[in-house]
Amino acid sequence: MTLWDPRGAGLADRHSRVATDLRVSLTDRCNLRCTYCMPAEGLDWLPSPTLLTDDEVVRLIGVAVTRLGVTEVRFTGGEPLLRRGLPEIVRAVAALEPRPSTMLTTNGVGLARLAGTLAEAGLDRVNVSLDTIDPARFQTLTRRDRHADVLAGLAASAEAGLVPVKMNAVLLRGVNDDEAVPLLRFALEHGYELRFIEQMPLDAGHTWRREEMVTGEEILARLREAFDLRPDPVLRGGAPAETWLVEGHTAVGGGPARVGVIASVSRPFCGACDRTRLTADGSVRSCLFSQEETDLRGAMRGGATDGELADLWRKAMWAKPAGHGIDDPAFLQPARPMSAIGG
Ligand SMILES: C[S@@+](CC[C@H](N)C(=O)[O-])C[C@H]1O[C@@H](n2cnc3c(N)ncnc32)[C@H](O)[C@@H]1O
Ligand code: SF4
Repeated sequence: MTLWDPRGAGLADRHSRVATDLRVSLTDRCNLRCTYCMPAEGLDWLPSPTLLTDDEVVRLIGVAVTRLGVTEVRFTGGEPLLRRGLPEIVRAVAALEPRPSTMLTTNGVGLARLAGTLAEAGLDRVNVSLDTIDPARFQTLTRRDRHADVLAGLAASAEAGLVPVKMNAVLLRGVNDDEAVPLLRFALEHGYELRFIEQMPLDAGHTWRREEMVTGEEILARLREAFDLRPDPVLRGGAPAETWLVEGHTAVGGGPARVGVIASVSRPFCGACDRTRLTADGSVRSCLFSQEETDLRGAMRGGATDGELADLWRKAMWAKPAGHGIDDPAFLQPARPMSAIGG
């Protein structure tokens, strides 16, 4: 086994990967209650004193960007639009040198009001999660009647230039697994780039069953009944989505339209993973499925310098597991659900 080398510049691990893509959870709270993510009553939210302040979040992102080679910063949660200081956090991160690309993963509720402000603050792109084009089904799936708000958020993002606007969808057996084609039609009609995500064992209720998961393979088969898909010649790199060109359809701004499938469970891409994660309470996670976390908040509040924080972060990433191990009989779902890690 190679020993940890604190002199390394970036966020390398012992499996020869280097993390350059930072996912920052800005809150574990949410205004929806997607059945595959959270129970109806919500969760035990993180206590406020443990949450990073806006200045602390920006300081840690600064350490990642200026000292550790992070080039992409994605804000997520919980629902990141619930974070009041979001525009100012985006502005401060976009002002870092070298400037990272800045992205947001959101359920889209409230985005109609905020898209312009966020674009002006320096946000580059958004991924909006939308699992159904049917308002009644949306209400069943998210336990909230906010479908129209999400559609307005998508439209406002395009108008604000947060392009290409990406849409994320999770298909659930017996709930919305008949929507692969309608969702893609909707996305193509509006010029949004759709990605399907396989459901992962990260729900708070621990109800995930592999046998019930709608696989990437199945999603592609359904899409092919209505669309002619060609493998995308653009190299995938560390990107989680495998993408296909949709024949006969053009993307906004020209070029072929695309659809993606993130088959994290059935076709894991751990070998090319370039992610590092920061939770809303200031812990680094090397993987969504890690059993271990490294607390930076305590060190920071205890007076650690930026150099010391960078060393802690490097050390945490050096221990990144080779893969998520969902297929391993000894697999253990992490204690934190997706909404508290940051999806
Ligand atoms: C956890 S959410 C956080 C950001 C925001 N609230 C949203 O919904 O986009 C990020 C993404 O994770 C997805 N997600 C949540 N739970 C999941 C699970 N168990 N498996 C796969 N994707 C999941 C959501 O559909 C969403 O696209
Ligand atoms: S998937 Fe996103 S919108 Fe849905 S409950 Fe989880 S955090 Fe909220």
